[in-house]
Amino acid sequence: MAEVIVLETAEDAGAFVAAHIAAAVRTDPEFTLGVATGSTPLPVYEALRAEAEAGTDFTRMAAFALDEYVGLPAGHPESYRSVVDREVTVPLGLDPGRVHVPDGSLDGIATAGERYEEALRAHGGVDLQLLGIGRTGHLGFNEPGSSFGSLTRVKTLTERTREDNARFFDSLDQVPVHCVTQGLGTILRARHLVLLAFGESKAEALAAAVEGPVSASMPGSAIQLHPRVTVVVDPGAASQLQFADYYRWAQDNKPEWQGI
Ligand code: GLP
Repeated sequence: MAEVIVLETAEDAGAFVAAHIAAAVRTDPEFTLGVATGSTPLPVYEALRAEAEAGTDFTRMAAFALDEYVGLPAGHPESYRSVVDREVTVPLGLDPGRVHVPDGSLDGIATAGERYEEALRAHGGVDLQLLGIGRTGHLGFNEPGSSFGSLTRVKTLTERTREDNARFFDSLDQVPVHCVTQGLGTILRARHLVLLAFGESKAEALAAAVEGPVSASMPGSAIQLHPRVTVVVDPGAASQLQFADYYRWAQDNKPEWQGI
């Protein structure tokens, strides 16, 4: 079962996760962080910037993004390449050559998944993968029905996900229909998964992912197959968890030597 940590605010969660990542980077400067996009990981990135200002050197850290839209023009501010550069690469001073995002350009799209898998393999995989969860239960852009064995490939977004993400664009029409996303099988290869969720709008998907049946209809439930998962949520996102009392009890009685 995943370790579930309920903290008061998204800011607290960001600071908690960033402190863990910063400590890992101080031990292994070439640590590889799997980065997610959307609103959810932003408090982590903000707290990582604070860790950098406080002296942790992230410049040798590598990063792999989960996904990318297909067909946005290069440099589009809402392409995940731009978001990762803006939120992570530039402020933390990462070497751009060590920051990988799937290639969503139409030219060569048929091989984008394969090329990304090869880059992950050649690099040696991801140490810690940050994950948000969509209201459809998606991880990365693995919409319901995605195989737990899936690798990086082109997927079609659901209308619900396009509507949810329309807030980043001027209109719904501008939200791409396709994406390139790490598969659930790819995500499950990361050595540690850290799933974040904030607010009541995520409560249903979160409870289904953490406690519901393992099913391709709920891609988030794939985390139940991974040996090392930390779920960090606020009380709103935790509000439908059936075993919330147990998670609090486990935290209160956590042996000091245990990390996350
Ligand atoms: C996005 C991303 C996911 C993210 C999810 C939730 O579309 N592809 O990686 O976890 O949907 O987004 P948000 O964090 O903005 O709620």
